[in-house]
Amino acid sequence: MSYKNYPMVSRVIFGRGSFNQLGDIIAPKRRNIKAPFIFLVDDIFKGNSWLTSRIPLAYQDKLIYVSAEEEPKTSQVDKLTEEIILSFNERPSGIIGVGGGTTMDLAKAVSIMLTNDGSAKDYQGWDLVKNPAIYHVGIPTISGTGAEVSRTTVLTGPERKLGINSDYTPFDQVILDPELTKDVPKDQWFYTGMDCYIHCIESLNGTFLNAFSKSYGEKALELCLEIFLENSLAVEEAQDKLMMASWHGGMSIAYSQVGVAHAMSYGLGYLLGTKHGIGNCIVFDHLEEYYPEGVKIFKDMKAKHDIELPQGLCADLSDAEFDIMIDVALSLEPLWENAIGKNWKKKVTRDKLKALYSKM
Ligand SMILES: [Fe+2]
Repeated sequence: MSYKNYPMVSRVIFGRGSFNQLGDIIAPKRRNIKAPFIFLVDDIFKGNSWLTSRIPLAYQDKLIYVSAEEEPKTSQVDKLTEEIILSFNERPSGIIGVGGGTTMDLAKAVSIMLTNDGSAKDYQGWDLVKNPAIYHVGIPTISGTGAEVSRTTVLTGPERKLGINSDYTPFDQVILDPELTKDVPKDQWFYTGMDCYIHCIESLNGTFLNAFSKSYGEKALELCLEIFLENSLAVEEAQDKLMMASWHGGMSIAYSQVGVAHAMSYGLGYLLGTKHGIGNCIVFDHLEEYYPEGVKIFKDMKAKHDIELPQGLCADLSDAEFDIMIDVALSLEPLWENAIGKNWKKKVTRDKLKALYSKM
Protein backbone atom coordinates (compact mmCIF):
# COMPACT_ATOMS: atom_id res chain seq x y z
CA MET A 1 0.00 0.00 0.00
CA SER A 2 1.38 3.37 -0.97
CA TYR A 3 -0.08 6.47 0.65
CA LYS A 4 -0.75 9.67 -1.20
CA ASN A 5 1.45 12.63 -0.38
CA TYR A 6 -0.79 15.66 -0.73
CA PRO A 7 0.17 19.31 -0.94
CA MET A 8 -1.87 21.81 1.09
CA VAL A 9 -2.54 25.53 0.87
CA SER A 10 0.79 26.93 2.00
CA ARG A 11 -0.41 30.16 3.60
CA VAL A 12 -3.72 31.23 5.06
CA ILE A 13 -4.90 34.35 6.83
CA PHE A 14 -8.18 34.37 8.77
CA GLY A 15 -10.16 37.24 10.21
CA ARG A 16 -12.85 39.83 9.60
CA GLY A 17 -11.28 42.60 7.52
CA SER A 18 -8.18 40.55 6.64
CA PHE A 19 -8.98 41.31 2.98
CA ASN A 20 -7.48 44.76 3.66
CA GLN A 21 -4.05 43.12 3.89
CA LEU A 22 -4.15 41.73 0.35
CA GLY A 23 -1.76 44.37 -1.03
CA ASP A 24 0.86 43.66 1.64
CA ILE A 25 0.50 39.93 1.20
CA ILE A 26 1.06 39.82 -2.56
CA ALA A 27 3.65 42.64 -2.86
CA PRO A 28 6.68 40.37 -2.24
CA LYS A 29 5.43 38.03 -4.98
CA ARG A 30 5.65 40.69 -7.71
CA ARG A 31 8.51 39.56 -9.95
CA ASN A 32 8.90 42.93 -11.67
CA ILE A 33 6.71 45.87 -12.68
CA LYS A 34 5.94 44.36 -16.07
CA ALA A 35 4.67 41.11 -14.57
CA PRO A 36 1.18 42.05 -13.42
CA PHE A 37 -1.17 40.59 -10.91
CA ILE A 38 -4.43 39.52 -12.53
CA PHE A 39 -7.51 39.78 -10.33
CA LEU A 40 -10.38 37.54 -11.41
CA VAL A 41 -13.40 38.93 -9.60
CA ASP A 42 -16.99 37.65 -9.64
CA ASP A 43 -18.98 40.16 -11.68
CA ILE A 44 -21.58 40.29 -8.92
CA PHE A 45 -19.15 42.80 -7.33
CA LYS A 46 -19.13 45.12 -10.36
CA GLY A 47 -19.94 48.58 -9.01
CA ASN A 48 -19.58 47.43 -5.40
CA SER A 49 -16.95 49.88 -4.15
CA TRP A 50 -17.00 48.39 -0.64
CA LEU A 51 -15.12 45.46 -2.15
CA THR A 52 -13.52 46.72 -5.38
CA SER A 53 -11.95 49.84 -3.87
CA ARG A 54 -9.82 47.52 -1.75
CA ILE A 55 -8.36 45.60 -4.67
CA PRO A 56 -4.75 46.83 -4.72
CA LEU A 57 -4.14 47.51 -8.43
CA ALA A 58 -0.62 48.79 -9.25
CA TYR A 59 1.58 49.11 -12.36
CA GLN A 60 -0.02 47.03 -15.11
CA ASP A 61 -2.23 44.93 -12.84
CA LYS A 62 -5.55 44.01 -14.36
CA LEU A 63 -8.98 43.36 -12.92
CA ILE A 64 -11.11 41.00 -15.00
CA TYR A 65 -14.73 40.46 -14.01
CA VAL A 66 -15.84 36.89 -14.55
CA SER A 67 -19.37 35.56 -14.67
CA ALA A 68 -20.39 32.86 -12.25
CA GLU A 69 -23.79 32.60 -13.91
CA GLU A 70 -22.77 29.20 -15.26
CA GLU A 71 -20.46 26.52 -13.93
CA PRO A 72 -16.84 27.12 -15.03
CA LYS A 73 -15.94 25.70 -18.42
CA THR A 74 -12.68 24.60 -19.98
CA SER A 75 -13.42 26.98 -22.89
CA GLN A 76 -13.79 29.87 -20.43
CA VAL A 77 -10.41 28.99 -18.89
CA ASP A 78 -8.78 28.83 -22.33
CA LYS A 79 -10.25 32.19 -23.31
CA LEU A 80 -9.10 33.91 -20.11
CA THR A 81 -5.64 32.39 -20.41
CA GLU A 82 -5.32 33.57 -24.00
CA GLU A 83 -6.56 37.05 -23.10
CA ILE A 84 -3.88 37.31 -20.42
CA ILE A 85 -1.10 35.97 -22.66
CA LEU A 86 -2.03 38.39 -25.46
CA SER A 87 -2.29 41.41 -23.14
CA PHE A 88 1.15 41.21 -21.57
CA ASN A 89 4.70 40.51 -22.68
CA GLU A 90 5.56 38.89 -19.40
CA ARG A 91 3.98 36.02 -17.59
CA PRO A 92 1.88 37.44 -14.71
CA SER A 93 3.24 37.55 -11.16
CA GLY A 94 0.08 35.92 -9.92
CA ILE A 95 -3.62 35.23 -10.30
CA ILE A 96 -5.99 36.28 -7.53
CA GLY A 97 -9.53 34.87 -7.53
CA VAL A 98 -12.17 36.80 -5.57
CA GLY A 99 -15.58 35.13 -5.52
CA GLY A 100 -17.33 31.82 -5.02
CA GLY A 101 -16.41 28.31 -6.10
CA THR A 102 -16.67 29.16 -9.80
CA THR A 103 -14.32 32.14 -9.56
CA MET A 104 -11.84 30.27 -7.39
CA ASP A 105 -11.83 27.31 -9.74
CA LEU A 106 -11.25 29.65 -12.69
CA ALA A 107 -8.31 31.27 -10.87
CA LYS A 108 -6.76 27.89 -10.12
CA ALA A 109 -7.24 26.64 -13.68
CA VAL A 110 -5.91 29.81 -15.34
CA SER A 111 -2.82 29.77 -13.12
CA ILE A 112 -2.16 26.21 -14.32
CA MET A 113 -2.85 26.92 -17.99
CA LEU A 114 -0.43 29.87 -18.05
CA THR A 115 2.44 27.40 -17.65
CA ASN A 116 1.05 24.34 -19.43
CA ASP A 117 0.43 23.97 -23.16
CA GLY A 118 -2.82 23.07 -24.84
CA SER A 119 -6.36 23.33 -23.55
CA ALA A 120 -7.69 22.98 -20.03
CA LYS A 121 -9.69 19.97 -21.22
CA ASP A 122 -6.42 18.06 -21.74
CA TYR A 123 -5.78 18.18 -18.00
CA GLN A 124 -9.17 17.05 -16.66
CA GLY A 125 -8.42 14.00 -14.61
CA TRP A 126 -5.85 13.00 -12.02
CA ASP A 127 -2.23 14.17 -12.06
CA LEU A 128 -1.97 15.19 -15.69
CA VAL A 129 -0.46 18.65 -15.10
CA LYS A 130 3.27 18.74 -15.90
CA ASN A 131 4.50 22.19 -14.90
CA PRO A 132 3.93 24.10 -11.65
CA ALA A 133 1.23 26.79 -11.86
CA ILE A 134 2.01 30.45 -11.33
CA TYR A 135 1.42 31.95 -7.86
CA HIS A 136 -2.31 31.93 -7.13
CA VAL A 137 -4.45 33.32 -4.35
CA GLY A 138 -8.01 32.38 -3.39
CA ILE A 139 -10.38 34.76 -1.63
CA PRO A 140 -13.81 33.19 -1.06
CA THR A 141 -16.85 35.48 -0.85
CA ILE A 142 -19.30 32.65 -0.10
CA SER A 143 -18.73 29.61 2.10
CA GLY A 144 -19.30 25.93 1.53
CA THR A 145 -17.68 24.63 -1.66
CA GLY A 146 -14.27 23.93 -0.14
CA ALA A 147 -12.74 25.21 -3.40
CA GLU A 148 -10.46 27.43 -1.32
CA VAL A 149 -8.71 24.40 0.13
CA SER A 150 -9.13 21.63 -2.43
CA ARG A 151 -6.63 19.99 -4.78
CA THR A 152 -8.99 20.23 -7.73
CA THR A 153 -10.67 22.71 -10.03
CA VAL A 154 -13.90 21.30 -11.39
CA LEU A 155 -14.56 22.24 -15.01
CA THR A 156 -17.18 21.38 -17.59
CA GLY A 157 -15.44 20.38 -20.79
CA PRO A 158 -16.67 19.20 -24.19
CA GLU A 159 -16.62 15.58 -23.04
CA ARG A 160 -16.94 15.58 -19.29
CA LYS A 161 -17.42 17.48 -16.10
CA LEU A 162 -14.30 16.66 -14.16
CA GLY A 163 -11.66 18.39 -12.09
CA ILE A 164 -8.04 19.14 -12.83
CA ASN A 165 -6.74 17.22 -9.81
CA SER A 166 -3.05 17.90 -9.35
CA ASP A 167 -0.35 18.82 -6.87
CA TYR A 168 -0.16 22.22 -8.57
CA THR A 169 -3.86 23.04 -8.16
CA PRO A 170 -4.06 24.16 -4.48
CA PHE A 171 -3.73 27.85 -3.76
CA ASP A 172 -0.41 29.28 -2.56
CA GLN A 173 -2.32 31.72 -0.40
CA VAL A 174 -5.89 31.92 0.87
CA ILE A 175 -7.53 34.88 2.54
CA LEU A 176 -10.45 33.88 4.76
CA ASP A 177 -12.37 37.06 5.57
CA PRO A 178 -15.88 36.07 6.69
CA GLU A 179 -17.05 39.66 6.31
CA LEU A 180 -16.88 39.22 2.53
CA THR A 181 -19.86 36.82 2.74
CA LYS A 182 -22.21 39.36 4.33
CA ASP A 183 -24.35 40.02 1.23
CA VAL A 184 -24.87 36.45 0.03
CA PRO A 185 -28.60 35.91 -0.73
CA LYS A 186 -30.33 33.44 1.58
CA ASP A 187 -31.03 30.72 -1.02
CA GLN A 188 -27.45 30.82 -2.25
CA TRP A 189 -26.19 30.73 1.35
CA PHE A 190 -28.23 27.59 1.96
CA TYR A 191 -27.31 25.74 -1.26
CA THR A 192 -23.60 26.47 -0.95
CA GLY A 193 -23.61 25.70 2.78
CA MET A 194 -25.28 22.39 1.98
CA ASP A 195 -22.43 21.59 -0.42
CA CYS A 196 -20.27 21.57 2.71
CA TYR A 197 -22.82 19.54 4.70
CA ILE A 198 -22.98 16.98 1.86
CA HIS A 199 -19.16 16.80 1.72
CA CYS A 200 -19.28 15.79 5.39
CA ILE A 201 -22.02 13.18 4.98
CA GLU A 202 -20.39 11.64 1.91
CA SER A 203 -16.97 11.57 3.50
CA LEU A 204 -18.09 10.27 6.90
CA ASN A 205 -20.24 7.53 5.33
CA GLY A 206 -17.71 6.50 2.71
CA THR A 207 -15.63 3.35 2.53
CA PHE A 208 -12.46 5.49 2.15
CA LEU A 209 -12.95 7.01 5.59
CA ASN A 210 -9.88 7.26 7.80
CA ALA A 211 -8.93 9.17 10.95
CA PHE A 212 -7.59 12.11 8.93
CA SER A 213 -10.81 12.64 6.98
CA LYS A 214 -12.99 11.80 9.96
CA SER A 215 -11.45 14.43 12.21
CA TYR A 216 -12.08 17.19 9.68
CA GLY A 217 -15.47 15.84 8.61
CA GLU A 218 -16.80 15.60 12.15
CA LYS A 219 -15.77 19.17 12.95
CA ALA A 220 -17.31 20.52 9.74
CA LEU A 221 -20.52 18.59 10.38
CA GLU A 222 -20.72 19.90 13.94
CA LEU A 223 -20.37 23.47 12.65
CA CYS A 224 -22.97 22.90 9.90
CA LEU A 225 -25.50 21.57 12.40
CA GLU A 226 -24.87 24.52 14.69
CA ILE A 227 -25.41 26.95 11.81
CA PHE A 228 -28.26 25.35 9.87
CA LEU A 229 -30.12 23.20 12.39
CA GLU A 230 -29.78 24.87 15.77
CA ASN A 231 -29.87 28.23 14.04
CA SER A 232 -29.10 30.14 17.25
CA LEU A 233 -25.88 31.92 16.34
CA ALA A 234 -25.39 35.65 15.90
CA VAL A 235 -25.00 36.64 12.23
CA GLU A 236 -21.25 37.30 12.38
CA GLU A 237 -20.49 34.17 14.36
CA ALA A 238 -22.44 32.12 11.82
CA GLN A 239 -20.43 33.68 8.97
CA ASP A 240 -17.13 32.93 10.74
CA LYS A 241 -18.14 29.37 11.52
CA LEU A 242 -19.46 28.57 8.05
CA MET A 243 -16.19 29.73 6.53
CA MET A 244 -14.31 27.31 8.79
CA ALA A 245 -16.85 24.54 8.13
CA SER A 246 -16.17 24.92 4.41
CA TRP A 247 -12.44 24.64 5.04
CA HIS A 248 -12.78 21.54 7.20
CA GLY A 249 -15.29 19.94 4.83
CA GLY A 250 -12.85 20.47 1.97
CA MET A 251 -10.00 19.00 4.03
CA SER A 252 -12.16 16.01 4.90
CA ILE A 253 -12.62 15.01 1.25
CA ALA A 254 -8.96 15.67 0.42
CA TYR A 255 -8.00 12.35 1.95
CA SER A 256 -11.20 10.51 1.01
CA GLN A 257 -13.83 11.26 -1.62
CA VAL A 258 -17.34 12.55 -2.13
CA GLY A 259 -20.14 10.17 -3.06
CA VAL A 260 -23.50 9.57 -4.70
CA ALA A 261 -24.85 13.15 -4.51
CA HIS A 262 -21.77 14.61 -6.18
CA ALA A 263 -21.64 11.93 -8.88
CA MET A 264 -25.28 12.46 -9.82
CA SER A 265 -25.09 16.24 -9.46
CA TYR A 266 -22.24 16.30 -12.00
CA GLY A 267 -24.61 14.55 -14.42
CA LEU A 268 -27.28 17.22 -13.89
CA GLY A 269 -24.64 19.93 -14.22
CA TYR A 270 -23.23 18.53 -17.43
CA LEU A 271 -26.55 18.10 -19.23
CA LEU A 272 -28.71 20.85 -17.77
CA GLY A 273 -26.13 23.32 -16.46
CA THR A 274 -27.52 22.95 -12.94
CA LYS A 275 -25.15 24.74 -10.56
CA HIS A 276 -23.19 22.66 -8.08
CA GLY A 277 -24.77 23.76 -4.80
CA ILE A 278 -28.41 23.59 -5.84
CA GLY A 279 -27.74 20.46 -7.93
CA ASN A 280 -26.34 18.67 -4.90
CA CYS A 281 -29.43 19.65 -2.89
CA ILE A 282 -31.80 18.44 -5.62
CA VAL A 283 -30.03 15.08 -5.76
CA PHE A 284 -29.41 14.65 -2.04
CA ASP A 285 -33.12 15.16 -1.28
CA HIS A 286 -33.72 11.74 -2.94
CA LEU A 287 -30.84 9.74 -1.45
CA GLU A 288 -32.48 8.34 1.71
CA GLU A 289 -31.46 4.87 0.58
CA TYR A 290 -27.76 5.76 0.69
CA TYR A 291 -27.61 8.36 3.47
CA PRO A 292 -30.75 7.86 5.63
CA GLU A 293 -29.74 9.95 8.63
CA GLY A 294 -28.02 12.66 6.56
CA VAL A 295 -31.04 13.11 4.30
CA LYS A 296 -33.44 13.26 7.23
CA ILE A 297 -31.48 16.10 8.83
CA PHE A 298 -31.15 17.79 5.43
CA LYS A 299 -34.93 17.84 5.10
CA ASP A 300 -35.22 19.34 8.60
CA MET A 301 -32.76 22.10 7.71
CA LYS A 302 -34.57 22.75 4.42
CA ALA A 303 -37.87 23.16 6.29
CA LYS A 304 -36.29 25.33 8.97
CA HIS A 305 -35.08 27.84 6.37
CA ASP A 306 -38.17 27.65 4.09
CA ILE A 307 -36.17 26.40 1.13
CA GLU A 308 -38.20 25.12 -1.82
CA LEU A 309 -36.14 23.07 -4.22
CA PRO A 310 -37.00 23.11 -7.93
CA GLN A 311 -38.99 20.04 -9.03
CA GLY A 312 -39.41 18.25 -12.33
CA LEU A 313 -35.99 19.04 -13.81
CA CYS A 314 -35.90 15.70 -15.57
CA ALA A 315 -39.62 15.46 -16.39
CA ASP A 316 -39.28 16.03 -20.14
CA LEU A 317 -35.93 14.46 -20.85
CA SER A 318 -35.45 11.92 -23.62
CA ASP A 319 -33.85 8.50 -23.09
CA ALA A 320 -30.72 9.79 -24.83
CA GLU A 321 -30.52 12.68 -22.37
CA PHE A 322 -30.90 10.35 -19.38
CA ASP A 323 -28.08 8.29 -20.88
CA ILE A 324 -25.80 11.33 -21.01
CA MET A 325 -26.38 12.10 -17.33
CA ILE A 326 -25.95 8.46 -16.36
CA ASP A 327 -22.69 8.23 -18.34
CA VAL A 328 -21.28 11.31 -16.61
CA ALA A 329 -22.33 10.07 -13.17
CA LEU A 330 -20.98 6.53 -13.67
CA SER A 331 -17.68 7.77 -15.07
CA LEU A 332 -16.81 9.14 -11.62
CA GLU A 333 -15.63 5.76 -10.39
CA PRO A 334 -13.77 6.83 -7.22
CA LEU A 335 -16.93 8.54 -5.96
CA TRP A 336 -18.98 5.35 -6.33
CA GLU A 337 -16.28 3.19 -4.89
CA ASN A 338 -16.17 5.48 -1.86
CA ALA A 339 -19.95 5.50 -1.49
CA ILE A 340 -20.75 1.83 -2.13
CA GLY A 341 -17.52 -0.14 -1.96
CA LYS A 342 -15.28 -2.08 -4.32
CA ASN A 343 -18.08 -4.04 -5.99
CA TRP A 344 -20.25 -0.95 -6.63
CA LYS A 345 -20.74 -1.87 -10.29
CA LYS A 346 -22.91 -4.79 -9.24
CA LYS A 347 -25.14 -2.58 -7.12
CA VAL A 348 -25.44 0.65 -9.09
CA THR A 349 -27.22 -0.04 -12.36
CA ARG A 350 -28.22 2.34 -15.14
CA ASP A 351 -31.87 1.59 -14.36
CA LYS A 352 -31.31 2.52 -10.74
CA LEU A 353 -29.83 5.90 -11.72
CA LYS A 354 -32.56 6.52 -14.24
CA ALA A 355 -35.20 5.88 -11.59
CA LEU A 356 -33.49 8.33 -9.25
CA TYR A 357 -33.02 11.03 -11.90
CA SER A 358 -36.69 10.62 -12.89
CA LYS A 359 -37.73 11.77 -9.42
CA MET A 360 -35.78 15.04 -9.72
FE1 LIG B 1 -19.10 19.87 -3.61
